[in-house]
Amino acid sequence: MKIAVIGGGSSYTPELIEGFILRADKMKIDEIVLVDIEAGREKLEIVGGLAKRMIEKSGLPIKVELTFDRVKAITNADFVLTQFRVGGLDARACDERIPLKYDVIGQETTGPGGFAKALRTIPVILDICKEIEEYSNDAWLINFTNPAGMVTEAVHKYTNVKAIGLCNVPINMRQMSANILEVDRDDVSMSFAGLNHLVYATNVHVKGKDVMDELLQGIIEGKNMNMRNIHDAPWEEEFLHALRVLPCPYHKYYYMMDEMLVEEKEAAEQRGTRAEQVKEIEKELFETYKNPDLNVKPKELEQRGGSLYSEAAVSLITSIMTNDNAIHTVNVPNNGTISQLPDDVVVEVTCVVNSEGPRPLQVGKLPTAVVGLVQQVKAFEELTIEAAATGNRHKALLALVNNPFVPSSKVAKQILNDILEENKQYLPQF
Ligand code: NAD
Ligand code: G6P
Ligand code: MN
Repeated sequence: MKIAVIGGGSSYTPELIEGFILRADKMKIDEIVLVDIEAGREKLEIVGGLAKRMIEKSGLPIKVELTFDRVKAITNADFVLTQFRVGGLDARACDERIPLKYDVIGQETTGPGGFAKALRTIPVILDICKEIEEYSNDAWLINFTNPAGMVTEAVHKYTNVKAIGLCNVPINMRQMSANILEVDRDDVSMSFAGLNHLVYATNVHVKGKDVMDELLQGIIEGKNMNMRNIHDAPWEEEFLHALRVLPCPYHKYYYMMDEMLVEEKEAAEQRGTRAEQVKEIEKELFETYKNPDLNVKPKELEQRGGSLYSEAAVSLITSIMTNDNAIHTVNVPNNGTISQLPDDVVVEVTCVVNSEGPRPLQVGKLPTAVVGLVQQVKAFEELTIEAAATGNRHKALLALVNNPFVPSSKVAKQILNDILEENKQYLPQF
C-alpha cells in the first residue's frame, strides 16, 4: 500500500505519522511519500526528518520518501492525502484581514476568507486530480485542505476521482461530548448533518439513551465545546435549549456575528489575526521538530487547531482498507441524504465506510430552524466553486453577495476587488 501526502511539509504530518504507527496492526503500509513544492523545501526537510525518525523508532518496515515531484508521489499511490496551503500563511493573513476592513468576519475557511482560499486552492486540486486519474492506482483522495467541503465538491463536480473530504470538527465534538458526559468516546453515538464548518449534531446518545439536554446543559455551564483556533464566546442559554441540536464551534461566527467581529478586530490589533499567531507557534514548533533526538509527535502541536486529525484520517483509511463498516462523519456528495439540498453538492454527514467508500446515513429534512442558513451557505459555496473553476467574475460577486457575513452588494464588490488584487499570482483562472 502506498500513501502520498501532498503538502507533506505541513506541521500536521507528525500527527498523521503517529496515527499510521498506532494502527500498524490493521494497515499494511509499505511506503509513505511526502511531497511539497520548492518553496516548502525547508519545512519538508524538517518535517520529513522527524517523520523518518518516528518510523525508525517504531521498527515498522515502512519506507518514508521526500520529494518535490508530485507525479512521482502520485504514481501507483493507493491513497492521496491533501493538506496543502496555496500562498502559505501570508495569504491566510490577507484572507483574514481584508474582510475586517469592511467590518465583516475574517476567517480562513468561512465567509470571504474561505472564498479567497477556495479560489486559490481549487485550480491546484483539479490539477492534482488529473494526475491521480492518470498515474495512481485508482487512489482514494482524502482531502483535508480547506475549505474542505468546497474543495471536495469541486473534485466531485469536475473530475472522476474518488474523493472524501475530512474535517476534525465532528470527531472533536464527539470527544468533547464524551468529556462533558464523563464517558468514553466509543460510548457516544452522534449523528451529524450539515456542511463542513456548518455541521450540527442532530442527536447524541450514550448506550441508547438520549443525552442531548444533558450535553447542552454542560455546554451552557461552560464546559469545553470549542476548537483552539476559534474565540470561545459562550452560547446563549435560551437559544441552545430552543434549538435542541448542537451547533459546531464555527456556528459562532453566524449566531454571534456581532460579538465575534468585535473580538476579531481587537485580537487583530493586539495579537494579530489567527494566521499571524500561527506563524509564531510554527516558529517554535519547527525548532522543536529539528531536534535530532525527537522521535515522537511533540506536545506543542496541541496549540494548533488540528487535534485528532490523525485519528480521523487514519481510522477512515483503515475502514476503506479493511472493509470494517465503521461510522465516520465525512464530506460526500449529497445524493438525497439531506432532502432540501441538491444532489450534486457535498455535505458533511455521518456515513458507514467500507471498501466501497462512504455510504451516508439518511438525514431527510433538516429542522426549519437551521435549514435556511445551510441552504444559503451552500448557495455561496456552489457559486464560489463555479467561480474558482471558471474564473467567472459575476459568479464570484454573486457568491459573496450570498454569504451571510456580507451586508451588501457594494461591500461584496469591494471585498472581491481586494481579494482578486491581493491574490493575483495565485489566480490563473481570472
Ligand atoms: P501549511 O501552511 O503548513 O502548508 C502545508 C504545506 O503545503 C506547506 O509545506 C507548503 O509548502 C505546501 N504547499 C503550498 N502550496 C502548495 C501547492 N500548490 N502544492 C503542494 N503543496 C503546497 O498549512 P497547514 O497549517 O499545515 O495546513 C494545511 C492545510 O490543511 C490547509 O489547507 C489547512 O486549512 C488545512 N487544515 C484542515 C483541517 C480540517 O479540518 N480539514 C484542519 C487543519 C488544517
Ligand atoms: C480546526 C479546523 C480546521 C482549521 C484548523 C485551524 O481544527 O477543523 O479546518 O483549519 O482548526 O487551525 P490553526 O491552528 O491553523 O488555526
Ligand atoms: Mn475543519
